[in-house]
Amino acid sequence: MIRLSTIEKVYRTAKIETIALKDVNLHIKRGEFLSIMGPSGCGKSTMLNIMGLLDQPSQGVVEIDSEHVAKFSDRKLARLRNAMIGFVFQSYHLINDLSVVDNVEIPLLYRSMSGSSRRKLALEALDKVGLNARTRHFPSQLSGGQRQRVAIARAIVGSPQIILADEPTGNLDSVMGAEIMDILNKLNQEEQTTIVMVTHDEILASQTQRIIRLFDGSQVN
Ligand SMILES: Nc1ncnc2c1ncn2[C@@H]1O[C@H](COP(=O)(O)OP(=O)(O)O)[C@@H](O)[C@H]1O
Ligand SMILES: [Mg+2]
Repeated sequence: MIRLSTIEKVYRTAKIETIALKDVNLHIKRGEFLSIMGPSGCGKSTMLNIMGLLDQPSQGVVEIDSEHVAKFSDRKLARLRNAMIGFVFQSYHLINDLSVVDNVEIPLLYRSMSGSSRRKLALEALDKVGLNARTRHFPSQLSGGQRQRVAIARAIVGSPQIILADEPTGNLDSVMGAEIMDILNKLNQEEQTTIVMVTHDEILASQTQRIIRLFDGSQVN
């Protein structure tokens, strides 16, 4: 589903050069659920952003569903990203002025689809994360765990084959974190969604099928 081959990422500014990833090789199969662990600054988010086509490697090859994406135009990349990948972030990234259901509809605005179809899919996604009673609320009226469930509903509303989650439980207590993990596990098991999750939590990581460990931009296992 995702293949990274000899990936390097170097961030250059006028004064300094940071090697964020060196010689990363990874093959993620369809339907896998794996976690990425490692200390702060080791390159976890960089790796996830490269897999998610939000950033490009300095060297190496990224393949999504056997497509070599290096030759894709920005427009084609955006379309592939919108169709294939759902993102979940530590700080939710919801739009505070929009209701829960309007937030969830956002990825569908880039597809040609009627308003009523968008609404139907958004409500179905909210149902899957157990938030059907909160669709008219605003993000500020929800707990952290509920906000993250809205973010997951937004990530899955377009039926992506891949979910990339960057420390999705990082701002949550262990009970809410476990709830988020249950939702991700269910998506993986019932819909065969391929999931890559960055986490600092060994207990949650141990529930996934494989743990990739990074240190200073290199894989250590
Ligand atoms: N846009 C950027 N410009 C310059 N350096 C960056 C940028 N993004 C990340 N880095 C650097 O790359 C390294 C890896 O960062 P990151 O992938 O965010 O680590 P992690 O998610 O594991 O905490 C860090 O040293 C970080 O400072
Ligand atoms: Mg990070």
